[in-house]
Amino acid sequence: MSPDAGQEPRPTAPRLTAAALDEDVARSDPHPTYARLRDEAPVVWHEDPGIWLVSRYDDVLAVNRDTRRFSSTGGVIPIEIGIDYPSPPTMMHTDPPEHTRLRRAVARGFRPSRIASLEQRIRGHVDSLVGAIAPGEPFDALEAVAAPLPITVICELLDLPSADWESMRRASDAVIPGAGDFDEDERAGLNAQLEELLRAHARDGGGLAADLREAGMDAEETYILVNQVLVAGNETTRNLLAGGLSAFAGAPDQWRRVVEDPGLVPGAVEEMLRFTTPVVSFMRTTTTDVDLAGVALRRGDPVLMLWASANRDPGEFGDDADTFVVDRHPNHHLAFGFGAHFCVGAALARLEAGLVLEAMTSRFGGLEEAGPPRRSPSTVIAGYEHVPLVAH
Ligand code: HEM
Repeated sequence: MSPDAGQEPRPTAPRLTAAALDEDVARSDPHPTYARLRDEAPVVWHEDPGIWLVSRYDDVLAVNRDTRRFSSTGGVIPIEIGIDYPSPPTMMHTDPPEHTRLRRAVARGFRPSRIASLEQRIRGHVDSLVGAIAPGEPFDALEAVAAPLPITVICELLDLPSADWESMRRASDAVIPGAGDFDEDERAGLNAQLEELLRAHARDGGGLAADLREAGMDAEETYILVNQVLVAGNETTRNLLAGGLSAFAGAPDQWRRVVEDPGLVPGAVEEMLRFTTPVVSFMRTTTTDVDLAGVALRRGDPVLMLWASANRDPGEFGDDADTFVVDRHPNHHLAFGFGAHFCVGAALARLEAGLVLEAMTSRFGGLEEAGPPRRSPSTVIAGYEHVPLVAH
């Protein structure tokens, strides 16, 4: 008897699900594919790897809020399917109550007073980066602001030397398998160097590491959490800034509105988050048989929450869900996830994006494309390789 005997067949839409996970589609524009998924196959099985794709806002939210039936311990990205970790590699790979213990310790390092204490220094970094952009001359948003700022800020948070951000950026990029232009020896060398630096830092460094030790984390846990913060906060914020500025260049009227009314900055940052959704999708694994929107999921099934699709769902955001609107209200986007694992660095990312937008709109009345942006071919991170702009 087949293992599927007596079970409902899983709904499939092979071409559509293949497109949603295709790196070439991700690089050009995945949103038409997400729209079709939401309309035609909102909860659908993709055979290779075996995983459910969930694309509507309400269904993504239902998965995201239910850590009991949708677990993070089976991995958070599809390449982890089938891996059996001897112990969770990061806080993201745990469920409550283990997650709650780690999260409480990390949250201390991101308490409002600590983030506020970084504000002046971040403002200084933003001013010098934005101040170097010459009016009327094309620049690459990535190299000018989006890449240097987040890694510099994380070095500040961790109390590591921020002047060395270029080498920290390379080291942090090399941690992500498949990302960057590294050959495997170089990647291994950078990983080893970073591990040595962060292990030493976890033992006796200041900043977040000191907070974690005070909260009772041992050296290994502190190392893992510091490493995770470095990786989780770097590429995400970079792509929020790059993608957000690119979105503004495509909507000059929205830029002018913020120039004329700086009070729109906080709402505009939320719209940058919704519109770009830097983390496209993360995975959960069912701990039991579950009915999701009338579809039968089986125990042990991997489930992909397509945050990037949920954030363009007209069912939640209305008919203009594909339009960039700086004062969208309400704007309950899921770019930082939802519930127990809600991004612990959200306040820091919002602060950075707000300061960049404030500095740029106060200097430049207009922002335009100086060429087509080039996106990276990833179905996990909505990345950018090149965002040529001109400000005046
Ligand atoms: C625009 C920037 C950012 C975006 C879009 C983003 C997105 C996310 C998302 C979607 C999650 C949820 C993961 C899940 O549900 O499994 C998450 C968690 C997390 N983020 Fe961020 N993030 C950003 C910036 C940052 C920054 C600046 C930091 C730290 C400096 C950071 C550190 C973390 C950590 C440690 C977690 C794990 C939280 C947990 O498992 O409880 N993120 N982030």
